[in-house]
Amino acid sequence: MFGLDGPEALAGDSLGLLPGLGGSVAALDESRAAAEAVELPFPADAVTDIALCGMGGSAIAGDLVLGAYRDRLHKPMSVVRDYYLPGWIGEGTLVMLSSYSGGTEETLTCAMQALERNSLCVAITSGGKLASFYAQEGVPVVQLPPGLQPRAALIRLLAPVAVLLDRIGAVPPLAGDLAEARETVAASVAALRPEVPEAENPAKQLARALLGGVPLLWGAELTAPVAVRWKGQIAENAKLPAFASALPELDHNEIVGFSGSPSDLSKLTRLIMLRDPRNHRQVQRRFDLTRELVEGHVDSVLSITAEGESPLARMLDLVMLGDYVSLYLALLRGVDPGPVEAIDRLKDRLAQTGYGRTAGAEG
Ligand code: F6R
Repeated sequence: MFGLDGPEALAGDSLGLLPGLGGSVAALDESRAAAEAVELPFPADAVTDIALCGMGGSAIAGDLVLGAYRDRLHKPMSVVRDYYLPGWIGEGTLVMLSSYSGGTEETLTCAMQALERNSLCVAITSGGKLASFYAQEGVPVVQLPPGLQPRAALIRLLAPVAVLLDRIGAVPPLAGDLAEARETVAASVAALRPEVPEAENPAKQLARALLGGVPLLWGAELTAPVAVRWKGQIAENAKLPAFASALPELDHNEIVGFSGSPSDLSKLTRLIMLRDPRNHRQVQRRFDLTRELVEGHVDSVLSITAEGESPLARMLDLVMLGDYVSLYLALLRGVDPGPVEAIDRLKDRLAQTGYGRTAGAEG
């Protein structure tokens, strides 16, 4: 049995993603400070609505903050993962262009359109064309340090979203929530880091429980985007297909796929329910009742409940666990969690085809 304890266990982590996660508190502090310092050339009350444009690890930062504060947001907010901005985005829209690398073509296309529409733009990036293009246009840039995998920069991408929402008054003041989130992140690192042996480390134990199966993540409300983050991290780090969906919607379709005679896929399914103690009372009941319905049809069901007071802390509590689980699962599977060749190959091929020739509005 491959052991997760001891320094040799980490040898397969060529980009040091596990030690990198250990720096999450500093990442939160630095990124928060960068977002607080950036000068916004428009008053808070100029913002009527909000869009965050990004892809992958840079987009989920928006989903996670939106998921955590959706019931407290005073202004409408959407996450855009596309080449085109929706028609409603205009002069009063705060458009956060979130791309860790600054080179993602969908986000760059949105950036150009947002400038054309005179939107209130802010970039969150480590550099690339996004930073250089925006600097020329005099648009504020929340500068992140370069050299990381975008998905490993989640906390750095996420803190500015929370800070900017706070600065434009779209959410109640977040200073207390950010302080608690910092404690949560520190506690997660202390409890889940590689030095904590498997017998006492829930992330290592959970990774082993997922080995050999197909992870299925179910969330709801605050934890719905967390389930998507777990799915992405398991795919990109552990190189394993994983699936995510959300209650109450899945009760209206997906559960039928887990009833009747179990399919080969359902027999392999390791279901993880990501729960929030503040889920709507009916959602709590749905988690319990849905579990009863599917339990005999999947390999196993585990339920994990977020801890913490503020939405930001509860969300990060589960995000940190998922990040560690995905990295330990990679090591157990004998794969290097760092490189994401499939994504790189696809981006290279798209670049060869010629972005300028293939992307563009019709008509
Ligand atoms: C890679 C990763 C990807 C990227 C996505 C967009 O670690 O997580 O999902 O986030 O390809 O790239 P960026 O974030 O640089 O805009």
